[in-house]
This record gives sequence, structure tokens and C-alpha cells, in this order.
Amino acid sequence: MVLAKFMDISMLPEKYKSLTQEQMETRIREIKDKLGEELFIPGHHYQRDEVIQFADVTGDSLQLAQVAAANKKAKHIVFCGVHFMAETADMLTEDDQIVYLPDMRAGCSMADMANIYQTEEAWLELTKTFGDTIIPLTYVNSTAAIKAFTGRNGGACVTSSNAKSMVQWAFTQKSRLFFLPDQHLGRNTAFELGIPLEHMAVWNPISGKLEYEGALEDVKVILWKGHCSVHEGFTVYNIQEVRKKYPNMNILVHPECSREVVALSDDNGSTKYICDVIEAAPAGSSWAIGTEMNLVKRLIATYPDKHIISLNENMCPCLTMNRIDLPHLLWALEIIEQGGQGNVIAVDKEVTAQALLSLERMLARA
Ligand code: 13P
Ligand code: SF4
Repeated sequence: MVLAKFMDISMLPEKYKSLTQEQMETRIREIKDKLGEELFIPGHHYQRDEVIQFADVTGDSLQLAQVAAANKKAKHIVFCGVHFMAETADMLTEDDQIVYLPDMRAGCSMADMANIYQTEEAWLELTKTFGDTIIPLTYVNSTAAIKAFTGRNGGACVTSSNAKSMVQWAFTQKSRLFFLPDQHLGRNTAFELGIPLEHMAVWNPISGKLEYEGALEDVKVILWKGHCSVHEGFTVYNIQEVRKKYPNMNILVHPECSREVVALSDDNGSTKYICDVIEAAPAGSSWAIGTEMNLVKRLIATYPDKHIISLNENMCPCLTMNRIDLPHLLWALEIIEQGGQGNVIAVDKEVTAQALLSLERMLARA
């Protein structure tokens, strides 16, 4: 199996460090105007404001996958998000469309928690134990190689906005689910669909063992022991403090938060869902939001008529999302303008073919 590969891991040239914000913004506008529809810039909700202002479209992971698949015009797609999102865009676009990631170090620590070797080893063990009863589902926050594993084993991708319908679909295929790499999204989704926690086991990729105390025949869901370090930063203590200080405040969190946090909150959903709920909320309503800080700060600035705070006021932005800044965006655009090919995300063809099976099974139901 050949893994998805980076074609370039070079670092930001020195010259970009001495430009002013205004100089960079002017150059970015010039290049955008010059390239017109040849250039397309999707931006995830967690991106910095300085970058989001140049995005042609913003959205959650599902929306960005959909727009990448639909865009047949742009020759250059500069993805303002993290590595797995750019890989997904590369796989869903045509061969003559090139996807760039402005900073190749913009990974996702959760996606890195499941590598293909650990996953194949886990699959071998789990199918030995449970036979042909398991279907794999992978959160899109995973490498192309994990998506390919899922595809060739009859499974699909999910995002935080379609996880419920994909889990329901998965149970029409097999009686057990192997959900990776985010144990929290898997647990929250299965629980909300009525599967008791006692029927969920955890696969520990480090020990190579199944963590489960009941009888094996009761296992319905096997959760990969991965997590998002940003969303694990929201705690039961944070909820208790908000409830004490603001008894009427609504608590809205992303489903990458732990089961305990989601259970104590008022609502949960993808970044798009969070944006939609806040947009529709009446003036004067109050909200504590449990998700990444760039998005929470943007919501606070966009809706001054609503009282919005972060569920954890000490939270930092997602460090890898934050790596995409104005200098990196300008650098990527100048590479394109000069006809170069740096910062390209190009997934291996064999991996792409198998990963597309799992992406297309998801997009067909989205
Ligand atoms: P969304 O699909 O909800 O935008 O989530 C992506 C992500 O990385 C959350 O941490
Ligand atoms: Fe990955 Fe978490 Fe950052 Fe989302 S917030 S990109 S899951 S590390």
C-alpha cells in the first residue's frame, strides 16, 4: 500500500516575514483579481479572520467536501483548513485541478492518532474476535489511507453533521460498528441513537487491546481511542461554572467534546450547526459555546446583540488550523502566480480510488 504523500514540505520564505498586513492584503487581492475563477479558496470555520476574509466559501467539513466536489472550474484550489481537508478536496476534484495547503504543517492531531498500520492490525484482531459482523466508519478527520481502508472494507466516511444518518446506515449493513479515530463523536452519536454505553468497547491502538468489561457478544460499537485535544479542553467543571454564573445561559458544544460534557450541555452539533443556531437565536439570548476559539470569537463579533462566551474562557485556538495565516496564504498564491507547484497536496492514485468509495458512500447520503 502506498501512502498519501506530501510533494513539498518547504517552509515560509523569509521575505514574507517583513511585509505589513496591508501589503499582504493588497497582494492577495491583486492575485485573486488576476486569477478570477481559476482560483478557489475554501475556508473552514476555524480559520483566522485574516484568512477567512479571502475565502470564496466558508463551511464545516461536509460543506467544504461538497463544494470541492462541485467545483469543476477552478484550476487552483488553495485550501484554508487542515491537511485531511485538503486531501479530501484533492480526491474529490479532477486530475487537472491542483489543491494547495498554504502551510504543510497544518495537520490535525486527532487524524494523526490513527495510522494505517495500527488500523490494519486492529482490523485483523477485531475480525478474528467478531467475524464478518463489523463495518468501519471513519470520521473525515483521518488520513486518506484510513479512508481507503474504510472504503475497501465496505464502510464510509462521516462528518459531525451527518454522523447520525451514517451510523444508522452502517447498522443496515452489519451488526457492529468500528468507529475511528474520534471516540467522542462515535460515542455521542451512538448514544443519541439509543445504543447504551455498556454496548460500546474501546480499541486502544497503543496496547493493541480491546477495552471492555462485559460479554463480547454484547459489543455493538468499537470506538478507536482517539480524541481532539482542543475539544477535550471543555470539561464538566466549565459547565458547572457557567451554570452557576449564568443560570439562563444556553450551552452549545461540538460533538467532539466528551460524553459527559455533551450530556450536560443543552445542544450539540457541527460547526455549521453552531453557526446556524447562533444566527437564528433571538437578540438578547445568551450562549456558552464549546468549540474552537477563532470561531467563537467570530460569532461574538458578528452578533453583538447576543451574549456569547466560550465555555472555557482559557481555551486556545486549534494550533494547526492557526498555522494558516496571511503570510502563508500569500506565499501559496504567489507560487501559483509564478507558475510553481509548491505546497501541493496530491494523494496517491491507488489510495484515492479506495478512499473515494468511502467518501462517495457518505456524499450519496448527505
Ligand atoms: P466540522 O465538520 O464540524 O466543521 O468539524 C471539523 C473539525 O475539525 C472539528 O474539530
Ligand atoms: Fe483536528 Fe481538533 Fe483541530 Fe479539529 S479542532 S482540526 S479535530 S485538532
